[in-house]
Amino acid sequence: MTEVVRLLSEDAGHMAELHAACFDTPWDESAFRDLLAVPGALALGIVEDGRLVSLILSALVAGEADIATVATQPTARRKGYGRKLLQEWLSASVALGTERATLDVAADNEGAIGLYEAFGFTPDGRRPNYYRRADGTKADAILYSLKLDTSAGLGAAPTA
Ligand SMILES: CC(C)(COP(=O)(O)OP(=O)(O)OC[C@H]1O[C@@H](n2cnc3c(N)ncnc32)[C@H](O)[C@@H]1OP(=O)(O)O)[C@@H](O)C(=O)NCCC(=O)NCCS
Repeated sequence: MTEVVRLLSEDAGHMAELHAACFDTPWDESAFRDLLAVPGALALGIVEDGRLVSLILSALVAGEADIATVATQPTARRKGYGRKLLQEWLSASVALGTERATLDVAADNEGAIGLYEAFGFTPDGRRPNYYRRADGTKADAILYSLKLDTSAGLGAAPTA
């Protein structure tokens, strides 16, 4: 059974575990606790058979929602969880009156870029050598943004 849930500070440990399975430079439990404590933070997760397998976390910065992280457990990928979470997150953000969403992604992260572009995110900047990988290599960050249609009362629908 799977369900979409709102993640709260008591979920920080599970979020850190999931993040560590997905990124070279994971954020620990206290980092998640701190991020969740900031006013305007919004975190959603997908729980599959009692286990957190996918998450999205955003922060409100000057009236814009910045998506800080999106991650799906390696064993649970390509099951539509990332897409489902982004859709739910967009709907929740529109309901909260958010007008614009931003995020950054490694230039070589084709999977995530495909996911974001399917929702209409468009690139509007680049930070050279922004990410440093565990093997010492670096990758550029591409900055993406999406204007949310608050008049329709619904989040953007994916085009793919
Ligand atoms: C990016 C990530 C969150 C996608 O999560 P997911 O739950 O597997 O995504 P979905 O199953 O909902 O995929 C939705 C669409 O995104 C695209 N996509 C996702 N992963 C992809 C991949 N590895 N290669 C190509 N396209 C991919 C596809 O268009 C996919 O649709 P499809 O399966 O119908 O072809 C996941 O791969 C992940 O956690 N990666 C490591 C962490 C990361 O890079 N996060 C993003 C940082 S900005």
